[in-house]
Amino acid sequence: MSGPTGDDQVMPQPALRLAQLKPSPIRILSEGAPPSAIPLGLGEPTWDMPRAALKALKETSGPCPYGPNFGLTELRDAVAHFHHATRDEVLITCGSEGALFSLFLAFLNPGDEVLVPNPYFPAYTSLAHMAGAEAAFYPLDAEDRFRLKAAPLIAALEANANIKAVVVNSPSNPTGGATTPEELRRIAEACRARGVMLISDEVYLDLHFGTRPPSLRDVSDYGLVITSVSKGWGSPGLRVGWILGDPAYLGPARTVHGYAVTGAAHPAQRAALALLEDSEAIFQAARREIRVRWEALEAALKLYLGQAAAPPDGAFYHWMALPEAALPDPWGFCVRLRDEGGVVLVPGSTFGPQGNLFARLSFAAFPEQITEGVKRLAPFWKA
Ligand SMILES: Cc1ncc(COP(=O)(O)O)c(C=O)c1O
Repeated sequence: MSGPTGDDQVMPQPALRLAQLKPSPIRILSEGAPPSAIPLGLGEPTWDMPRAALKALKETSGPCPYGPNFGLTELRDAVAHFHHATRDEVLITCGSEGALFSLFLAFLNPGDEVLVPNPYFPAYTSLAHMAGAEAAFYPLDAEDRFRLKAAPLIAALEANANIKAVVVNSPSNPTGGATTPEELRRIAEACRARGVMLISDEVYLDLHFGTRPPSLRDVSDYGLVITSVSKGWGSPGLRVGWILGDPAYLGPARTVHGYAVTGAAHPAQRAALALLEDSEAIFQAARREIRVRWEALEAALKLYLGQAAAPPDGAFYHWMALPEAALPDPWGFCVRLRDEGGVVLVPGSTFGPQGNLFARLSFAAFPEQITEGVKRLAPFWKA
């Protein structure tokens, strides 16, 4: 490469820990989309940030400090109250992604493995690699709408002594499948018996279509809950989340998080506090938002594709079987959907091999976009 002075410059070489890391395919598909494409790819709320948060941001005044590494005391108290826990069981992080990053870097060594669901939220494997560890997989139950079951997870745990951490995610991104208290309890007991760190990613817990799925906290005092204000509280851009659990895990996680980012932004933590204080009303409004969007999707699937569909247990994802024509090359098919059809879906293979026959449709989009998006899918599904 030639620099501005004509000198030869050495190309920067990313560190080895990046060898297995690629930019997120979800972002690649979405960011490369033509402006007219309907965005059914990204998993983020399109409804307004709740007024309580907006008000708190507007009212912010005075100094804007770094704040304590563990997070604002008032916010930790509010989170503790929300989970029926105590303040010393709460570490505030930059989103649940900040929580995962901190736990993985604090507790995993090279050669360790992290057991994650298949299909899975891609950050699980990427962050495991960043920590120098490897990912191992347990299948979600394809016969039962990809719900989380204890038996395959425990079988994977028994077969592999290198597993140092287990991640569960109910309701799941990408499938929307959840689990039952009994299954979750069995998983917690199996992890406790082996001394394996258990992380329950509950970012979608309060966005449900029937009864609320169980939190790990409902069934066990073992393991860590991670969640954030990004989904149920409708505020992903605040970048506030937390880890809830045994303080013995939180100290090392705080060291990593503190060096990485110091802490979540002070005004954002104030806004998160306002959200926590209004949780029930905010969740009810958010559930109305996803219900309206689901109804638009259900009607459009019937009208344009002739498909009957049931809502997921939770979250805002429709895990959609691909047509046969797509199967030799699901990525190429989704790129054609985007560039020729004008609609962005994420190929299920992005979420692991159990996703090969599927695409993830995010119905967090506006209802009109959902209707138009499915209409645009029709020629590709019928071809
Ligand atoms: C399952 C799951 N976990 C964690 C995250 C990260 O969310 P955040 O860092 O905004 O809390 C996401 C975001 O889409 C997700 O789907």
